[in-house]
Amino acid sequence: LIKRSFSTTTARNVINNVTVIGGGLMGSGIAQVSAQSGNTVTLVEVNSDLLKKAQSSIANNLSRVAKKLHKDDPNAAQKFVEETRSRIRGATDPTEAVQDADLVVEAIVENIKIKHDLFKALDKAAPVKTLFASNTSSLSIGEIASVVNRKDRFGGLHFFNPVPVMKLLEIVKIPEQSEETYQAFLSWGKSIGKSCVTCKDTPGFIVNRLLVPYIAEAIRMLERGEASPRDIDTAMKLGAGYPMGPIELADYVGHDTISFIMDGWHQKFPDNPLFKPSVSMKKLVEEKKLGVKSGEGYYKYNK
Ligand code: 3HC
Repeated sequence: LIKRSFSTTTARNVINNVTVIGGGLMGSGIAQVSAQSGNTVTLVEVNSDLLKKAQSSIANNLSRVAKKLHKDDPNAAQKFVEETRSRIRGATDPTEAVQDADLVVEAIVENIKIKHDLFKALDKAAPVKTLFASNTSSLSIGEIASVVNRKDRFGGLHFFNPVPVMKLLEIVKIPEQSEETYQAFLSWGKSIGKSCVTCKDTPGFIVNRLLVPYIAEAIRMLERGEASPRDIDTAMKLGAGYPMGPIELADYVGHDTISFIMDGWHQKFPDNPLFKPSVSMKKLVEEKKLGVKSGEGYYKYNK
């Protein structure tokens, strides 16, 4: 009876207060788009320096959005930035930050042990109503959720970089996830302006399962000396209509991230040739040439 009375109309208002754990590229983007659409947001980082860095990156990205929204009205643009920023509160204690959360989105380092420690603590600290989600790119949602009691209120909410621009949100189901939770994720995703797709908890979900092997093959093509980085990128932009070529995209996402994904999958599925780690990418990571964020990857960038 209770289940039936929980309509999607009710679900629309379930999530208004969001806690985002991790203020990196993804976490600050998630905090930004949540606040832009009216949610109250608590953004958690490990210390106040990192929190400041995240807040200033949000301010920069909000100005870009504001310029677009209010092209001819600088006052309205400024008001938009200020109002959105005022909805984002910073915090350094994750358990304190979830006290009144409707939804927690975790976007911290891709380490299962650290995620487990975090979610164990959050499960104790958060109210019963709080839904939990992970923005992991490559780890299993079920494995992350294994340490919490609220598996019915757990799922993957996977965003794409740059979060304020990319329209997609992948909603990842696990078998224990309730229909109410799924509907709440879906309504919230739509309310923050994303188009949602739903998928099972498999390596890479939909996008990364296709994108990462594609990038890896482009890099193998480069390693085999079959074409230059510039020509591979131009080919895929002009021949397949992609906004960025695969080598540019690898630099954009970061070689640390892509290597981490490939290594994890390779360990789990050693016989799958699509997941074979790339030699040249490993070398770049060792040399700390991580791509755009470090100033150099396969290409060089002005920092
Ligand atoms: N915040 C706000 N706005 C931003 C932004 C940001 N961080 N980055 C770009 N924009 C806006 C710009 O203001 C601009 O707006 P306008 O067209 O209205 O003026 C628009 O986006 C386009 O930006 P630019 O003109 O600077 O540059 P491009 O036209 O080259 O677009 C791009 C940049 C949107 C990044 C485009 O190249 C693109 O879509 N690239 C592919 C990105 C992609 O594939 N992402 C997915 C990576 S995989 C992933 O994230 C999964 C993870 O798990 C690994």
